[in-house]
Amino acid sequence: MRISLRQLSVFLSVARHQSYTRAAEELNLTQPAVFTQVKQLEDSLGVTLLDRIGKRMQPTDAGRVVVEGARETLDAVGRMEMRLADMRGLREGRLTLAIVSTAQYFLPRLLGQFCDANPGIEVALTVTNRQAVLARLAASEDDLCILGTPPEGLDVVARAIADNPLVLIARPDHPLVAEVNIPPERVAREPFLLRERGSGTRLTVERFFRARGLTLPMRMELGSNEAIKQAVIGGLGLGALSRDTLALEGTTGALKVLDVAGFPLLRQWQVAYPRGKHLSVVAQAFLDHLVAHARQAVEAGPTIARIAKEAAQE
Ligand code: PGA
Repeated sequence: MRISLRQLSVFLSVARHQSYTRAAEELNLTQPAVFTQVKQLEDSLGVTLLDRIGKRMQPTDAGRVVVEGARETLDAVGRMEMRLADMRGLREGRLTLAIVSTAQYFLPRLLGQFCDANPGIEVALTVTNRQAVLARLAASEDDLCILGTPPEGLDVVARAIADNPLVLIARPDHPLVAEVNIPPERVAREPFLLRERGSGTRLTVERFFRARGLTLPMRMELGSNEAIKQAVIGGLGLGALSRDTLALEGTTGALKVLDVAGFPLLRQWQVAYPRGKHLSVVAQAFLDHLVAHARQAVEAGPTIARIAKEAAQE
């Protein structure tokens, strides 16, 4: 059978408009060209497809069967083309991510799995603090953003992908390490090492103490999670960190998690993008990957129970 997709789509247009002239306008063809395509289709199929009724060209019974078949065929071809475009997208695409600094302890593992499965994808990763990620999110600079808590005051789509508890840490020889259920008031008398303004970690911990009428005595402000850890190890004070930043120290015993009433502060890692933003095939695939695997990747790091157990064994 020598029918073509072109003939089917021209015929569908004529049937829709019930007119060769209007179909020709829609398709940017001459009226005789449209007529010829329909005629060839009729010859190939051996049926009459259209009846002239007054000024209108109306499908015959056979024409209605062909309208239905043509729609199904063109839909199937459209779906096939979309799937092929998606495959190309995953083969050669680019993914831009902005993540808060605390997410750098688990996100690369997830990115690694994703890039192994899709080796042609180029990734641009910006690691910065919450305030800067929110600014990038508002300006739609990246495909996806990852934050420690839901973004506030922005029209975005945000999905929780895993737990993100925030803990208070101390050096193993700190007197509070041996205590249980420590009242927040007691902790708030200790010198604290806090992240810079704009950090989500700092915002969360300050909110907790402020809600109880307490202000943390800040000994030092430090611009990264690693700097906080080193300063705590150096005996400069207590620190507040997302549990997932302790991926390495959790097993070495260099840092201990304090048992403070109200802690860990329970939060959820969020993946977010501006509402209405068109996600590329790659971005959508990575979002699906996060939703499917983030929880497991995060839990593969140290669990609170394990850190607490180490503290108890000391
Ligand atoms: P940040 O990230 O402290 O690096 O801003 C953590 C968060 O958003 O909670």
